[in-house]
Amino acid sequence: MTEMLMEDVAEQLVARGKGILAADESTGTIKKRFDTIHTECTEENRRNYRELLFTAEGISDYISGVILFDETLRQTATDGRRFADILLEQGIFPGIKVDKGAKPLAFSEGELITEGLDGLRERLAEYRELGARFAKWRAVIPISPGAPSPYGIEANAHALARYAALCQEAGLVPIVEPEVLMDGEHNIDECYAVTETALKAVFDELYKQRVVLEQMLLKPNMIVSGIGCPEQADAAEVASKTIYCFEQTVPASVPGIVFLSGGQSEEQATLNLNEMNQNSPHPWELSYSFGRALQTSALQAWGGKTENKEAAQHAFIHRCQMTSAARDGRYSSDQEKQA
Ligand code: 13P
Repeated sequence: MTEMLMEDVAEQLVARGKGILAADESTGTIKKRFDTIHTECTEENRRNYRELLFTAEGISDYISGVILFDETLRQTATDGRRFADILLEQGIFPGIKVDKGAKPLAFSEGELITEGLDGLRERLAEYRELGARFAKWRAVIPISPGAPSPYGIEANAHALARYAALCQEAGLVPIVEPEVLMDGEHNIDECYAVTETALKAVFDELYKQRVVLEQMLLKPNMIVSGIGCPEQADAAEVASKTIYCFEQTVPASVPGIVFLSGGQSEEQATLNLNEMNQNSPHPWELSYSFGRALQTSALQAWGGKTENKEAAQHAFIHRCQMTSAARDGRYSSDQEKQA
């Protein structure tokens, strides 16, 4: 595994029936998730929770790579094995979130810019030593009456490309994630317009900065209605507008598009992914890199209690099975009820 070419890693991450588990919540974000189950955010609880996910029986049938947070990449499981090794032993690529979060963009109210470029070359070299084979950087693009501006989109696209080029220099496959947020009352067509503009800017910067498209994956939002929009688009509309948007913006040399779930329910994200894959083939593999849509049920079932470990693993594997089926266009919501 260690000597694999980046294009082969990228291809394997989007192998049929498989996708990525985003388990790279920062300490602040995992605390928010633990708050929902009234569980204290200690290092031990974070370790126990990640351990139950990564050791769930059958995970490698559905998960090709796991994105980790810095702490987790350095952490060991209760039996003393490093998490990175536990994944590698199962044929799962460990990945690493390398951005340092989104901060307010100067002179542009309501917009954000992702930080973390300073010292990134050195951090990437260390992460590769620690076993990471791919990386993630998330740019955040909120929609509001005054945003996004061309300035906000350009600044984020530029940073994404700087990150991606450094990753490839270090031998890590970059996951390029420009996330247009679902928050707001905007309709699906506004989401389309902003996403199309953002993706055009991102691929323009990737080209200028000499990023090799065969050696990366794109992690976008689906084109959906804002959470507060009174008219919610159905899966058929989400799928057709999302695919049309990529046809306009994403070169066919990109091997795969791995969606974030972005706050959609587990079932909704699965349905939408399925709908897109039922209308295949497409120039790129359409797969998943879900955080919440793979973990919410498992987190609830666990509730921070050791005795619930098996129930949580069961819930997690069920979500993996449903999402994997959707990745191949084989999902129906009846399968949820049968479980
Ligand atoms: P969600 O699927 O919960 O949006 O998380 C994916 C992710 O990695 C966001 O950066």
